Amino acid sequence: MSCYLAYHCIQCGADHEPAAIVMRCASCGFGALDIKLDLKAAQAHLDPLALGDDPSLWRYGPLLPVDVPTGPSSPLTTVGGTPLFAAPRASERLGLGPIWLKDDGRLPSGSLKDRASAVVVARAIELGIDRVATASTGNAGVALAAMAGAAGLRASVFVPASAPAAKIAQLGIFGAELFLVDGNYDDAFRLCEQACETLGWYSRNTGRNPFTVEGKKTVSYEICEQLTREAADTKNDAPWRAPDRIFVSVGDGNIITGVHKGLRDLLELGWIDRMPKLMGVQADGSAAIAHAFDAGTEIIEPVRAQTLADSIAADNPSDGLRALRAATETGGRYLKVSDQAIVDAIRQLGRDAAVFAEPAAAAAYAGLEKWAASDNSNPDETIVVLITGNGLKDVPAAQRATCAPDAITPTLAALQERLQQTKESA
Ligand SMILES: Cc1ncc(COP(=O)(O)O)c(C=O)c1O
Ligand SMILES: [Zn+2]
Repeated sequence: MSCYLAYHCIQCGADHEPAAIVMRCASCGFGALDIKLDLKAAQAHLDPLALGDDPSLWRYGPLLPVDVPTGPSSPLTTVGGTPLFAAPRASERLGLGPIWLKDDGRLPSGSLKDRASAVVVARAIELGIDRVATASTGNAGVALAAMAGAAGLRASVFVPASAPAAKIAQLGIFGAELFLVDGNYDDAFRLCEQACETLGWYSRNTGRNPFTVEGKKTVSYEICEQLTREAADTKNDAPWRAPDRIFVSVGDGNIITGVHKGLRDLLELGWIDRMPKLMGVQADGSAAIAHAFDAGTEIIEPVRAQTLADSIAADNPSDGLRALRAATETGGRYLKVSDQAIVDAIRQLGRDAAVFAEPAAAAAYAGLEKWAASDNSNPDETIVVLITGNGLKDVPAAQRATCAPDAITPTLAALQERLQQTKESA
């Protein structure tokens, strides 16, 4: 059962035939496309308080625009169900209310992008497509390679040659057809789009393929469903409980767009009773959307992106408008954080909550720290920080946040000497 009705253009409002492969609105020529769902029909198949035992994102099958994969479980069916857990030490340190971390660094390929790739690959299978292509700063390509490969499809991936070594290694391991591009992410994106148009490949590109948002939105479903379970004692008028605020790292803007879409679905279904404020966090050196937010305009001027957080480096965010609206339409905002604040947040997140995040993921936490120190913070709110990628993907960045001590000889005397030195320098 699929509740998928049509594509809907966010610029001119035109609807388009659901069966076609469409990446941009054919009426106005440029609008990004939302997937329009018949939520009322889907609701008839779902009880929000009894969704069954499947922990993966396919537990929300009727709310997804693709058929749930059938047959024996496969890697495609292992995506989703990441933990949401409290970080009481962070709440205390920052003088805030409950802070919850949603750790998508624990997905199969180590980033939230697995959600999008699982749904795009399911769509490709339905369409009988055998090759899917994407440009990526690394994670989206890795996720596509993992999901497509496991489903027997080919993944053609374009990444900047400067991408972190671990991500390039993952691409090799998952069997991607890899094109290392001598340029930045935006160059890789342009080349990949040209390849798709010229060679007829199916594009998974962020901000182009409308189905990525549908995978990413499931993180919002999980957050609200899990928060309901975790805070069962709090009074709530809807079956599920929404947090007051969600912090999300933003590059192209597709993740925050997905988070917003998921929450809009839940509000329309009546499963939550209010819209959380969405807090987009960008690196100072890659802040095209944040600049537009600050200027109060929907015109997003490209920048020359420069940040150590490679996954959120985007000159011209490909989903900028929807990402901007995710904040403006929810009463949230955009924050900018420095690379140093991101490095500090990697360390702080590890110490507060045993989470090892890659720089782009830690940016959301740096945003929380910045907000907590501002006059706008509110200790009565329930906050969620989305952790979008695993720290093992970029160990050199983590090494900037900490330094390993010199080795000691394996004797008790050497250990005692070291303990003495540590005591003296404390
Ligand atoms: C770990 C991580 N965090 C955040 C982002 C930003 O997502 P988006 O480009 O959709 O804004 C990405 C995108 O690659 C990512 O891999
Ligand atoms: Zn349009």
